[in-house]
Amino acid sequence: MKQTATPQPPYAQIIAAVEDLPGLESLSEWLVKALVPVTKRKGLMDLLHGRLLGHSLHPPLTDLPLGMWGSVPVLDLIGDRRGATALTAAGCLAAGAAAATGAADWTVTYGRDRRLALVHGLANSAALGLQLGSLSARLRGRTARGRFLSVAGLTVGAAAAYLGGDLILDRAMTVNHTTFLSGPGEWTDVAGDSDVTEGTLTAVDVDERKVLLTRVAGKVCALENTCTHAGGPLNEGTVEDGEVVCPWHGSRFRLNDGAVLGGPATFPQPKLQTRKIRGRIQVRGREG
Ligand code: FES
Repeated sequence: MKQTATPQPPYAQIIAAVEDLPGLESLSEWLVKALVPVTKRKGLMDLLHGRLLGHSLHPPLTDLPLGMWGSVPVLDLIGDRRGATALTAAGCLAAGAAAATGAADWTVTYGRDRRLALVHGLANSAALGLQLGSLSARLRGRTARGRFLSVAGLTVGAAAAYLGGDLILDRAMTVNHTTFLSGPGEWTDVAGDSDVTEGTLTAVDVDERKVLLTRVAGKVCALENTCTHAGGPLNEGTVEDGEVVCPWHGSRFRLNDGAVLGGPATFPQPKLQTRKIRGRIQVRGREG
């Protein structure tokens, strides 16, 4: 029987067309290279990724410019010119912070996600340009022009926000990739005691996912093997000084407790309990 492709809804077709626009891949590669002097500053990147906050800084920061710029037409309607100008300016400042954090998260993306995220960033830059134009017009007393540019900037910003929502909600960017992993609820045999050695990373199958086993200072450690950042396989990474380094983007987790020691990951690596019974290692995980 002839198979027919499932028709895509219009929004999915638009997104697919947007991320396949010619030139996005080469522009992405050029930008990633141009940003190397910034991305090699690990402390700054950790700050921009939001490691200290415990999750990505970018999504909550984007609420600020959109909220401020979204309020400007209301102030225009009630005739509060000074308030509208002040909120336009504050929104532009907040947009700068949102752009810096978004760019940091973007540098550790690939393929169609990176292309769509680039369009998201370019659209937000256009929105910021329109709002700066509005601010300039308002400061020069050209209120009608300022109002027009505010609404135009808000419209472009809303379209960019839609793409940002798609990146997080559909493609799980900046989302904890271990959220739905839990258990086993009962102690489960996973390996022989002698199979787990210092300096080596062993992935074992537990409840249809992999758990990472290693030994630090004689003690067996067990962590989820899927990196919280974007799902990289930690067992293919490296061990250094009681830490595991993810092979995909270099996040570092302490093997004893899964704490994040270096980004881009912002969520700790879930730890499983371990015990030794008659020469065998058993693990037990958190409840779902
Ligand atoms: S998947 Fe990105 S650091 Fe692990």
